[in-house]
Amino acid sequence: MSADAAEAAKAEMPDELEPTKGKSHDSDKKFDNKASISKYECTIYYLFCFLEKIHTEKESKYCSATIIFTLKNEVGGLIRALKLFQEKHVHLVHIESRKSKRRDSDFEIFINCDSEHEQLKELTELLRTHTEIVEMTPSENSSLLHDVTCSKFPIFHQITRYVYSLCYTATLLLQGFKDQIYRKRRKYFADLAMNFKHGDQIPRINYTAEEVRTWGVVFQELNKLYPSHACKEYLKNLPLLTRYCKYSENNIPQLEDVSRFLMERSGFSIRPVAGYLSPRDFLAGLAFRVFHCTQYVRHGSEPLYTPEPDTCHEVLGHVPLLAEPSFAQFSQELGLASLGASDEDVQKLATCYFFTVEFGLCKQDGGLRAYGAGLLSSASELKHALSGEANIRPFDPVVTCNQECMITTFQDVYFVAESFEEAKNKMREFAKTLKRPFTVNYNPYTQSVDVLRDTSNINNMVKDIRHELDIVEDALRRLGKLQRD
Ligand SMILES: [Fe+2]
Repeated sequence: MSADAAEAAKAEMPDELEPTKGKSHDSDKKFDNKASISKYECTIYYLFCFLEKIHTEKESKYCSATIIFTLKNEVGGLIRALKLFQEKHVHLVHIESRKSKRRDSDFEIFINCDSEHEQLKELTELLRTHTEIVEMTPSENSSLLHDVTCSKFPIFHQITRYVYSLCYTATLLLQGFKDQIYRKRRKYFADLAMNFKHGDQIPRINYTAEEVRTWGVVFQELNKLYPSHACKEYLKNLPLLTRYCKYSENNIPQLEDVSRFLMERSGFSIRPVAGYLSPRDFLAGLAFRVFHCTQYVRHGSEPLYTPEPDTCHEVLGHVPLLAEPSFAQFSQELGLASLGASDEDVQKLATCYFFTVEFGLCKQDGGLRAYGAGLLSSASELKHALSGEANIRPFDPVVTCNQECMITTFQDVYFVAESFEEAKNKMREFAKTLKRPFTVNYNPYTQSVDVLRDTSNINNMVKDIRHELDIVEDALRRLGKLQRD
């Protein structure tokens, strides 16, 4: 995107919707952690607005749409196109430029927007005079543009994957969103996540008695299973969390305490979010050793079931494993592999993430144990996965990446790794087969990711490795001397 185009785009959007580095395939030399944070926020902001709209404006004339267009080969084309959105009062929710999948030499502008139907129709007519619209969902002729009272997601099959994840979450939340008090509470958590800035302390929550009760039911039920079902790394770290982060039946741990604990144990930190992120954004967080966590508690009507991540899932399912350095590294490598990868490859990585970090099993002491957070936070699926009746296959990223992910039912199949080390090695080999024009390296000093695509970058890395080998050699020499003396 050229400088003037970027300025025009920025003028159309609130600050938090500004496109950020790290998204484009033609990435800059560094992926900057702070810069990419606002992207996460805008996704969540969009999600919440989306939910609000669905539940409160069913009868309105509003419609959300995705438009993908290419620009004619003329200076200022994007500015002219974006001005049309302004003139027609069509609200831009998300904008990005990306390489065309249809024509190799072209770039496409991808826009999520919402407005009244009539304005959207007028906009698309005008837009055709300045651009070539290559895709639009819902289409101009779709009845959806005329009837959103049926917006209990009939657009499901038509929408792009980006919007898919958001709509999907909305569907899952229907039950909770019928409860006005719960909706208000969720808005409170969404606002907290939205206002969170890099470097802030994560706000401490005064959980209500009902939220603590719900958490307590989940906590009790799962703790009955952990000794016989959870992997040894989990069982090693859970008592530490009880001690340092006040995990207990009567207390929901605070994410700030958990984040500090993780930083000391494995270098991971937590960032609060309001719900699902897109796979690309979520994986990008892992690359920076940032784990996005929800802070709300599931609806109290069904304590033992939630189709969406809540704080019970995060702190009971994910955190004990993230405190384990070898698992933390495995998670980060999944994230690093996603930076600069194509949408298709990101989807493969997200599926591998799903069947490892969320639903993974491993071999230990001659049996199977769970290390996936989706299992370790769901008593019924944890029992099922290790019941002897579930379909178990060896983890192989080439196969696993094509497995269908089940969200509202148990998985059709679970993948078992010999160890985190083995899973990491397999993922490393798999990542090498993904197409991208460079490789990346996480720099822990600057907490940023260096793109290794020229010799000077690689030379600097070699110097660092030599220095580290010197330290190892010196340590071995001193050890040998000590043993001789
Ligand atoms: Fe999760």
